[in-house]
Amino acid sequence: MKEYILSAQNICRDFKIGDGSTVHALKNINIDIEKGKLTILRGRSGSGKTTLINILGALDRPTSGSVVFGGRDITKLSDKKRDDLRRSEMAFVFQSVALMSGLTAYENVEFGLRLAKYPYDKRKERVTRVMADVGLEKRMHHRPSEMSGGEQQRTAIARAIAHEPELVFADEPTAELDTASALNVVRLFKELVAQRGMTIVMTTHDPSMMDIADRVYTLEDGEIVE
Ligand SMILES: Nc1ncnc2c1ncn2[C@@H]1O[C@H](COP(=O)(O)OP(=O)(O)OP(=O)(O)O)[C@@H](O)[C@H]1O
Ligand SMILES: [Mg+2]
Repeated sequence: MKEYILSAQNICRDFKIGDGSTVHALKNINIDIEKGKLTILRGRSGSGKTTLINILGALDRPTSGSVVFGGRDITKLSDKKRDDLRRSEMAFVFQSVALMSGLTAYENVEFGLRLAKYPYDKRKERVTRVMADVGLEKRMHHRPSEMSGGEQQRTAIARAIAHEPELVFADEPTAELDTASALNVVRLFKELVAQRGMTIVMTTHDPSMMDIADRVYTLEDGEIVE
């Protein structure tokens, strides 16, 4: 039987813009995210992928509808509770890698653990482990400027998953990479799903990524199409 970690029900998101008109960025979206699987949200530029993933991951609130995670509607929680939830149980990877330039790969990942309040005495072991998981044990003491784009993105992924979140959201994590590095990142996601039982939701508009997903949802003009 399928087990869902997160369900979005009747999600609408309107944006009011400067001239007083309204953009209906999401229109009555229903999706279920299966636990321990890789789900892809695809669609053209402007179709609503970022708007949707931000709502699923509690970075934004819908205009109406609910997002059920851990048995409760997280759209109704206070900002503080949502921040806590995000920090402890979720993780985000973005298109442009936001590593701290003055810190090494190791220090960037350790910083993530500090934010997640990961036990101090377990951090060293955990950073070493997760850097090996993403295939960067030999790059731990490099600064971002001393790594390739793909290595930087894998460092960002290591930082995102170091605290062992249940649910990882990645918004176009491969958009700035060449094809080979992009495939490496997606293969890494597949491994994390298969070996660590992680649940990953990622957006992309790259058709070559679809084969590796367990489930693909296609967005068109703010709606899910089959
Ligand atoms: N803050 C905002 N204010 C007004 N309109 C917005 C806002 N954010 C997004 N939109 C509109 O909502 C629609 C969906 O945007 P979204 O960023 O979710 O698209 P996307 O699928 O992620 O596109 P891309 O592939 O280019 O990243 C677009 O028409 C966009 O112009
Ligand atoms: Mg986007």
